[in-house]
Amino acid sequence: MRTQRGVSFILLLQLSLYCSSIAADDQSEIISRFQSYLRIDTAHPNPDYHAAADFINAQAKSLSLESQTIEFVVGKPLVLLKWPGKRRDLPSILLNSHTDVVPAEHGKWSLHPFGAEVDASGRIFARGSQDMKCVGMQYLEAIRKLKSSGFEPVRDVYLSFVPDEEIGGHDGAEKLAHSDLFKQLNVGIVLDEGLASPDANYRVFYAERSPMWTVIKAVGAPGHGAKLYDNTAMENLLKSIESVRKFRESQFDMVKAGLKAEGEVVSVNMVFLKAGTPSPTGFVMNLQPSEAEAGFDIRVPPIYDQASLEKRIAEEWAPAARNMTFYGIFFPLTEEISLEGHLH
Ligand SMILES: *[C@@H]1O[C@H](CO)[C@@H](O)[C@H](O)[C@H]1NC(C)=O
Repeated sequence: MRTQRGVSFILLLQLSLYCSSIAADDQSEIISRFQSYLRIDTAHPNPDYHAAADFINAQAKSLSLESQTIEFVVGKPLVLLKWPGKRRDLPSILLNSHTDVVPAEHGKWSLHPFGAEVDASGRIFARGSQDMKCVGMQYLEAIRKLKSSGFEPVRDVYLSFVPDEEIGGHDGAEKLAHSDLFKQLNVGIVLDEGLASPDANYRVFYAERSPMWTVIKAVGAPGHGAKLYDNTAMENLLKSIESVRKFRESQFDMVKAGLKAEGEVVSVNMVFLKAGTPSPTGFVMNLQPSEAEAGFDIRVPPIYDQASLEKRIAEEWAPAARNMTFYGIFFPLTEEISLEGHLH
């Protein structure tokens, strides 16, 4: 999981998977299938994507699901499974999960991170068990259970097992989302990563905030450190930082007052400051630098008027009138837009 979840509402679903009605034999088979998946080392920087794809395809075969493996980028297979529904004309359901996991520092684990060992209380230890191999397996096990009960879905159900989510998803989910194939799937709803649940409740979150990472930059004439004068890069950047902080406070105050949930406001956090002229012992102390930059991790709720925020950035946080520029990377749900502001 890359990001903190911005969560406004919680919906609870009961997955039949963990119901006590499942026989002990089935339980142990479910666990051993899960363990097999966990034992595939799909950790960055060298995930064994093909082993994961082979495993998913073997599962698909045992469930008689249609399957295709697509390499939008060579070496990064994406597996797409289909459980056909009775009504082909209706929008479909897409259940997404990623096969890659973040690296494991072996020395800090008491058990092997790809051993998937079960302890006396039934806990399974493996990198990626929560994020998010458990979810991919829950989809498959739920289908196994539904199929054995004779259930037929009304809509087409697709399952996508995507690579490279932990490093941005550009070669997997992003390529899929922009493909003609994706249009043909006619997806009505997607279930994706959420928070792992230790009990039988499967929580579904929606209204996730979009990251809007923004860098603002001030330029000004360099000057001697002993002189007081206006319009230095540092002074101009500080004015902006003050105005960002006021906005941050206004958003945070609504949360503190209980008027809004954390997922319903815009969060703005300064994540870097870059300025100064390096010297062998640190920084030159008697020079006012000609450039200064600050970076912000901004998260925007889907219901928030993004255009008004962009206007605020252009007019208040990085105004051309103060010799400032900005650039950012925006991630709305459908496409990625790079925005550059008044670069001279
Ligand atoms: C912007 O830059 C110009 C040219 O260096 C300078 O004359 C002017 O004072 C600057 N304005 C501000 C507000 O920093």
